[in-house]
Amino acid sequence: MKLYRALDYKDLSRKAANLIAAQVMMKPDCVLGLATGSTPIGTYEQLVEKYQNGDLDFKEVKSANLDEYRGLTKDNDQSYYYFMNHHLFKHVNIHLENTNIPNGMEPDSKKECLRYEKVISDLGGVDLQLLGLGHNGHIGFNEPSESFDQITHCVDLTPSTIEANKRFFEKAEDVPKQAYTMGIGTIMQARKILLIVSGEDKADILYQSLCGPITPHVPASVLQLHKDVVVVADEAALSKFSEK
Ligand code: F6R
Repeated sequence: MKLYRALDYKDLSRKAANLIAAQVMMKPDCVLGLATGSTPIGTYEQLVEKYQNGDLDFKEVKSANLDEYRGLTKDNDQSYYYFMNHHLFKHVNIHLENTNIPNGMEPDSKKECLRYEKVISDLGGVDLQLLGLGHNGHIGFNEPSESFDQITHCVDLTPSTIEANKRFFEKAEDVPKQAYTMGIGTIMQARKILLIVSGEDKADILYQSLCGPITPHVPASVLQLHKDVVVVADEAALSKFSEK
């Protein structure tokens, strides 16, 4: 595992974007595993800037997102489909037909999960998977539980995740209660993983994830078993590391 210490959120975003850009330059037709949430927004901004400066070309890039809320239409501004278009896809020359996100409107969850796993395997797997970290250690929407979920599945969101995400909705009742997410097994099959973490509120969980026991109660702790993980975190998120 490699750990890059960033000064602040801006520096973190620049470093993460540089690592993604390096992946695209080394393999122009690579498969990027993408994440939503607040942490990657700065990274996507930097990628858009690199594209606009002529330093990055997405024309052969393919992507597969980690997750999607269940029950939100693509044009709902809280759907992850909307998020990805808004923050990245519409600003760069990626072909929309090369982008993949679980279909939150598919009512047959078993069918959708199997379809999405096939999409990823037909792409040849993910070259670089970008991840954020939930306050409870979740990655994608793999919430703390008694076992590591292997493949793409439909989850009931925990009260803490609903609480954390309600800032994006008008009221807590509007936050969807379920989501489709890649499983821990799907994530672990990515050839490289880039975990980005910002802010003091993530310091404890980042420390537990990287230095604590490997347990499904802290889903991100499984990353300790992956052979190629890069963590980019800012000083605030790394504050527990300095203390200990
Ligand atoms: C998003 C995702 C989530 C977020 C996590 C952190 O696609 O899968 O696991 O990465 O909830 O979210 P932020 O970055 O908003 O703190």
